[in-house]
Amino acid sequence: MRGDKFLTESGLLSRKEASAAIRGGRVCVNGLPLRDPARHIDPATDQVTLDGEAVGYAPFIYYMLNKPEGYVSATEDGHLPTVVSLLPPQAQKRDPFPCGRLDRDTVGLMLLTDDGALAHRLLAPKSHVAKSYRFTCAEPLCAEAEALCAAGMTLGNGDLLRPAGLVCDDDRMGGVITLSEGKYHQIKRMAGALSNRIVTLERITFGPLALDPALPRGECRPLTDAEITALRQAAGQ
Ligand code: URA
Repeated sequence: MRGDKFLTESGLLSRKEASAAIRGGRVCVNGLPLRDPARHIDPATDQVTLDGEAVGYAPFIYYMLNKPEGYVSATEDGHLPTVVSLLPPQAQKRDPFPCGRLDRDTVGLMLLTDDGALAHRLLAPKSHVAKSYRFTCAEPLCAEAEALCAAGMTLGNGDLLRPAGLVCDDDRMGGVITLSEGKYHQIKRMAGALSNRIVTLERITFGPLALDPALPRGECRPLTDAEITALRQAAGQ
């Protein structure tokens, strides 16, 4: 990898600053000044310093996003803003993607990463990684809603669902539902099968990750080492 790309992707400098730092002799590789921004660096073996401080290179990036309404769960869209556009510019350079989808009007916890293998494992249907959502609905939930979810509902098109956990609020105008699969518009379609309609939907957990209460809507933060380890365990890595 080019020296300037290495510094940019480590998140410390913009590409322009990295070039200037290298040309200015502030960057050393294995103790020797780099000087040429295009010179190759091997992140696995080379020791890189900037102004004498070691520069670490993360092989992958992992961000928790508190998704706001109006953003699409995609890397590109011709018309609408994407969740990727909410990441810091240096993280966007790593070509991250959302791990799974939330509807445009769904808010809350989203994982963005460039670790394709981990994402693939977390999203594989056989992984059954649990995801929970806080929701409100248009009508009070019927008395049988918990039992029907626990038994595994059949949707209007014949889709048979895995058992889901439903804990209703006291007034039954919402609650928390936990799924171990992710079918298209699943919660909205489940509400429809119960002759109801979802009004608001927020994802609050994804496997071992819980939406950080200190993370404002529309903002993101890198996952902690403990969160990354827990995710890998959930994915069987
Ligand atoms: N179920 C839905 O209906 N929408 C989502 O965004 C997520 C789960």
